[in-house]
Amino acid sequence: DITVAVSPPALGFTAVAKSLADVVSIPSDYTATVVYRLGDPINAATSAFANNGTDSGYSARAGDHHDGMSYFGLAASGTTPDANNSTRGLLVMNHENISEQYLHVAGQTVVNGARPTSEVVKEMECHGVSVIEVTQSSAGWSYVQGSSLNRRITPYTPMVFSGPVKGSALLFTAYSPDGTAGRGTINNCANGHMPWGTYMTCEENWAGYFRRDSGDNAQRTALVGAKSTQAFTRYGLSQRSGNYGWTTAAEATAGATLIGKFNATIDPTKPVSGTGDFRNEPNQYGWCVEIDPYDPTSTPRKRTALGRMNHEGCCPGRAIAGVKPAFYMGDDAQNEYIYKFVSNTAWVAADATASNRLAIGDKYLDSGTLYVARFNADGSGEWIALVFGQNGLTAGNALYPFADQADVLTHCRLAGDAVGATRMDRPEWTAVNPATGEMYCTLTNNSSRSPAQVDAANPRSYIDPKVNSTSRSTGNANGHIIRLREAGDTTEATRFTWDVYAFGAGSDLDPTNINLSGLDATNDFSSPDGLWFGKPSNASGQVTPVLWIQTDDGAYTDVTNCMMLAAMPGSVGDGGTRTITNTGVSATSTATTRIGKAPGTALRRFLVGPVQCEITGIESTPDGRSLFVNIQHPGEGGNFDKPTSNWPALPTSGSSVIPATSAGTAGTRPRSATIVITKKDGGVVAL
Ligand code: FEO
Ligand code: CA
Ligand code: CA
Ligand code: CA
Repeated sequence: DITVAVSPPALGFTAVAKSLADVVSIPSDYTATVVYRLGDPINAATSAFANNGTDSGYSARAGDHHDGMSYFGLAASGTTPDANNSTRGLLVMNHENISEQYLHVAGQTVVNGARPTSEVVKEMECHGVSVIEVTQSSAGWSYVQGSSLNRRITPYTPMVFSGPVKGSALLFTAYSPDGTAGRGTINNCANGHMPWGTYMTCEENWAGYFRRDSGDNAQRTALVGAKSTQAFTRYGLSQRSGNYGWTTAAEATAGATLIGKFNATIDPTKPVSGTGDFRNEPNQYGWCVEIDPYDPTSTPRKRTALGRMNHEGCCPGRAIAGVKPAFYMGDDAQNEYIYKFVSNTAWVAADATASNRLAIGDKYLDSGTLYVARFNADGSGEWIALVFGQNGLTAGNALYPFADQADVLTHCRLAGDAVGATRMDRPEWTAVNPATGEMYCTLTNNSSRSPAQVDAANPRSYIDPKVNSTSRSTGNANGHIIRLREAGDTTEATRFTWDVYAFGAGSDLDPTNINLSGLDATNDFSSPDGLWFGKPSNASGQVTPVLWIQTDDGAYTDVTNCMMLAAMPGSVGDGGTRTITNTGVSATSTATTRIGKAPGTALRRFLVGPVQCEITGIESTPDGRSLFVNIQHPGEGGNFDKPTSNWPALPTSGSSVIPATSAGTAGTRPRSATIVITKKDGGVVAL
């Protein structure tokens, strides 16, 4: 339980202007330095990064596309956890994807239709998770190259399944004939910092990595059954060659299936059970995966009770003694759902500092109820339980015959379809206000939302004049942030009220129907994605919740690079209703929505990133005085010989400090990187 500060109640920085510069822009009374870049070595034996495509050994280097991130405090020395230490800790972060054009000497190689194994291994190892020790000294923050706690988790790392789907025939593979184990994690997007000191990494766009040869749909229907083909189709597993052509490469080790596991095409000579090939391998992805950051030898656990989807993130609700905790999750694809998992076990405060962290995870995450959200036009909503045998989720279901709870969880999208959940404008991150328990979720954009398909919770479909491509010419081009308040303010609730905290828009767009939140030059944004509540406290232990919003922008990058804003939001229901007219390419409609009060100066732009980056991943030290942020894929539209960003700069002469606000050297390949932001007077960031 926390006490909310009454003073200072306002943001204490001057808004940063929109920018197209190839640097990080922040308020002038702040400092931002680069801490951990693509390729940085994480043990003493690994060489410095050359950044010219010749580097290898990425299982001992920082991966690419830094994304969701948490900070876990360490004691002043040794390996003992101390969650309250704000000067030494572990940063745990996702490496979602790769900018493959910068990883090799002269771009990707294909020889006679095949990728070289060395390139594929490098690309695979650039995915996954980093655990990296960071410390603050008088010179600022740096990572500790030789720390015994440093770890890379990659698509190769052994993992185990936990919860109701463990041992299901849906998970049987040649690697794990009993469906209890798997290897690796991929496309790790956002995250969750569990109340018992573990990190949750979430598997988002995993489907694209899989190869399925032409004819596998028909073969799958004949050999396994129509359900398998239906489920694969619902999860976007089409017949295609798979991202980056990985499975064209030979295995690095004869007889291994570290690369070949990404080929899910059925081998008809293998057992129908699927224990002889990798026909079920896609079912091993799409989960939330729990990692104990303090134990580098621990085996990550895939938490199947939380369902399988394009898991964006997993934000815990407030942990209150005696109350069952909840975990809020978005499924990021167009017209997908928002989910909540409620544990069967009420929170015990002593578990926050228990040493058997993954066993505590078993306790809270392996049994409970997965719910999907329905948003009603009157501002109410409900959580619908996805439990086999309830709400029509039975073998007799007309949409999809559910076999058991493992089937429901592995295919919770189909369960959501069956129970009539609300199709959202791409649910990304979730965040919970530590003072009120209200849950916020970014709905980044949805180009497929036609004027005929709007509803109260996804009310906009319009022609954004900044979007030129016809494929994005209508729909919700700029996204919005929805929030909900649980009935009784408890994580256990099955009903809620909701409104839209803010609608993204250029400040120059129609204030009546598009720029509904009255955004101006100091706070206009598009395509919200990253979302996190900080809870800096003052000397009296009073907390000031600050909402941080990060963008992944498709509709505003002609005007500004992606950005991060800070807000002190109000509460659900503080605005009212608004009826708008949607004008699309070929149709018009009206929608009445629920809208929060205009954010005004309580929402301000704090940071703008370098060219072609996304801003994603954020957590502060417990004292709120050091804020870690990830700069993902600067220069993603360029090529090895024509980089479109040169960020970050090299260290300042005679020092190891890399100012994030400095321009890089012309011609240098850009690198995804973690930065840390501090206030020059040592104060709490944003206040
Ligand atoms: Fe990886 Fe939905 O962002
Ligand atoms: Ca994201
Ligand atoms: Ca996004
Ligand atoms: Ca991205």
